[in-house]
Amino acid sequence: MITNTEIAKRGNQYPNHIVDFKQEKDKFFFTTQNGVILELTILRDSAIRFRYATEHVFEPDFSYAISDDVSLGYNQLSIQDEVPEYIITTSKVKIHIDKANLKVHITDLEGTVITQDELGFHWEENYNYGGNNVKMSKVCHSGESYYGMGDKASHTNLKGKRVNNWVTDSYAYGKDQEPLYKAIPFYVGLKENIAYGIFFDNSFSTYFDFANEKRNVTSFWADGGEMNYYFFYGPKMSQVVEAYTDLTGVPELPPLWALGFHQSKWSYFPEKKVKKIASTFRKLKIPCDAIYLDIDYMEGFRCFTWNNQHFPNPKKMIEELEEDGFKTITMIDPGIKIDRDYWVYQQAMDNGFFCRRADGPHFKGKVWPGECKFPDFTNPEVREWWAGLYKEMIEEMGVHGVWNDMNEPAVMEVPTKTANLDVRHDYDGHPCSHRKAHNIYGMQMVRATYEGVKKFSFPKRPFVLTRAAYSGAQRYCATWTGDNVATWEHLWIANVQMQRMCMSGYSFVGSDIGGFAEQPNGELFARWIQLAIFHPFCRVHSSGDHGDQEPWSFGDEITDIVRKYIELRYQLLPYLYTTFYKYIKNGMPMIQSLVFYDQEDQQTHFRTDEFLFGEHLLVCPVQEPNSQGRRMYFPKGKWYSYWTDEVITGGVEKWVAAPIHVIPLYVKEGAMVPKYPVQQYVGELDIKELGIDVYYKEGIENSTVFEDQQDGYDYKKGRFSLRRFRLRGKKKELIIQQFKDGDFITSYSKFKLTFHGLPFTIGKVELDNEEVNPKDIKLNGNNSLEVSKDFTELHIFGT
Ligand code: NOJ
Repeated sequence: MITNTEIAKRGNQYPNHIVDFKQEKDKFFFTTQNGVILELTILRDSAIRFRYATEHVFEPDFSYAISDDVSLGYNQLSIQDEVPEYIITTSKVKIHIDKANLKVHITDLEGTVITQDELGFHWEENYNYGGNNVKMSKVCHSGESYYGMGDKASHTNLKGKRVNNWVTDSYAYGKDQEPLYKAIPFYVGLKENIAYGIFFDNSFSTYFDFANEKRNVTSFWADGGEMNYYFFYGPKMSQVVEAYTDLTGVPELPPLWALGFHQSKWSYFPEKKVKKIASTFRKLKIPCDAIYLDIDYMEGFRCFTWNNQHFPNPKKMIEELEEDGFKTITMIDPGIKIDRDYWVYQQAMDNGFFCRRADGPHFKGKVWPGECKFPDFTNPEVREWWAGLYKEMIEEMGVHGVWNDMNEPAVMEVPTKTANLDVRHDYDGHPCSHRKAHNIYGMQMVRATYEGVKKFSFPKRPFVLTRAAYSGAQRYCATWTGDNVATWEHLWIANVQMQRMCMSGYSFVGSDIGGFAEQPNGELFARWIQLAIFHPFCRVHSSGDHGDQEPWSFGDEITDIVRKYIELRYQLLPYLYTTFYKYIKNGMPMIQSLVFYDQEDQQTHFRTDEFLFGEHLLVCPVQEPNSQGRRMYFPKGKWYSYWTDEVITGGVEKWVAAPIHVIPLYVKEGAMVPKYPVQQYVGELDIKELGIDVYYKEGIENSTVFEDQQDGYDYKKGRFSLRRFRLRGKKKELIIQQFKDGDFITSYSKFKLTFHGLPFTIGKVELDNEEVNPKDIKLNGNNSLEVSKDFTELHIFGT
């Protein structure tokens, strides 16, 4: 091995002057005298890909991150050959390439610099492994901020931080600990109110330095592979995130039950215990849709087997749970126990599906079952086999969803906590070592799981959960943030991680509510539930070492609070489902940090606690013990307190009351928030009436309600119901128009509108231009109104 001093002596290399240029449709190639080629591809007017080769040679172009459905196409494209630079112009940006050194800067059409190379592309030859360590440095302007980057447990604004993407089993991680479970090398920069994004699509270990080492430099680099990054221009953050999400993809709609409340523990067994937990939910009338079986349901931790002692008849148990409204989710890990009598092991051995070390032997590592071998999920044949293994579990046993854990892959008793770097992978026909495949290994495992669960669940939709992820994994599954801790600090971490993941294109995300390691007290558990009902994936999970963590484990007062909030989640299901629909339709994150909501307001740039859940709810968790309230910032707009209807005009920081049973929750004025009645599980009730909370506004506001069969694929054939409501409030009038789309007939045609902040007393009501006989409308004071038919226009006149 060459020493660090020797490496340092060899140092960085830089492109020199451009000697050749050519254009092939949407691609431009700039070649320097010392053999660097910049390949610049215009994907869209505001999405540009940059790839750099050294020694004139690009690697084969292949990525696991990019979605097949990416939208391509631009309106305008031209290039000017000037002194001293080339200038490429689209309808959104100008890209300047310096002829002397290949440095790039990008401006908007007015000439404002969006991003600018500092040293730009440079590299160091990697003598130990071959290839290059590829590097990029850009100018960090004063006042510039950085967001995104997956699951980092750091302040939402990453300015001043250095992070590393190397998916890692990080039991009981701490604030700012690096690296964690996900590798999402994508950030959103915000400079002088212009947002842009950078996605460094490189699966090696990558590093990002956001003005940490040098105050005015932001840089990113990788231990190998190519300098291959995408630039997205906003100028709005939402446009940047949408563009990244379009490039790396979105999931299908989950079954609605997957958005209900889930209960898990390591582990619920035997069967009697599982049943007891389930029946306690029903007895205490706490809604719940799913129960999890962690590794102990298996026979000696062998994946795809059942421990017959603890679970003598899993099929029957799962059926009975289902009759009671529970879906059963089972865990599957990547490590396959070395056991010549175990069919999964035999099949993988017979077919050569296990990963090998550089010199030929299989890679072995210790996990729960002892010594294991690991399938090479980067081989399409292995993925197909793996998908097939779910047949019995899903089709015959009736399992409803699968949870892939330890897929970094986590390996015990070794300092690196993972596979050896020399382990070989197919990488879909681009053979490589684990250095390149590590970050995408878990993603390829869960991709195979998704294919299998999907196939065998059909015509229902699959539900799959992963711990490890690389960019694009959101296409296959939900994810959770791994082994957190039952501390107040971790409540804070969970909040920023959800915001950050959503900003990074991965919205179907949740934390282990209450903390995985150690045990929360009742207060912490209640506060965590209050926050987590506003997270897209909502599950209690704990290590089980320190006692129980069910909603009823902390005394009656806490049980009542927890029930109230889980009930609220179930009431908000149509709102949540609509938010999910908007995420997959437009790439709109389900949770938005305040800076995303209003980037123009500088106050939002460093806020961590408040966030928007969907487009109309503003949430601010209480993150300290013994609080009676807290200070929170209200962004632009007018906000109704969900609890008292008090209206607060944004742009202020205020103290708000929040005793133990209250989380600060506000609704944007003009919003129409759809609600279902409380159900103990999704599908328990046939919805006979849609409740809508109407928050009066003088002016106009739009709201949407998306519904369908709550499972299955008919929605893809147009069988969905999309109601768009347009609320227009005047001093003494309120007009609600409804525009409908889709062929799905909802089970209800009645609406119960509950008014908040109506500044007048209801006099006359017109439905589709006909005056309603006062006898035909049920008017409950001035607060609510029952409308017994579907309508296009509801006109309410004040007296
Ligand atoms: C680690 C996971 O993060 C945790 O959720 C799980 O309970 C344990 N593995 C045991 O399977």
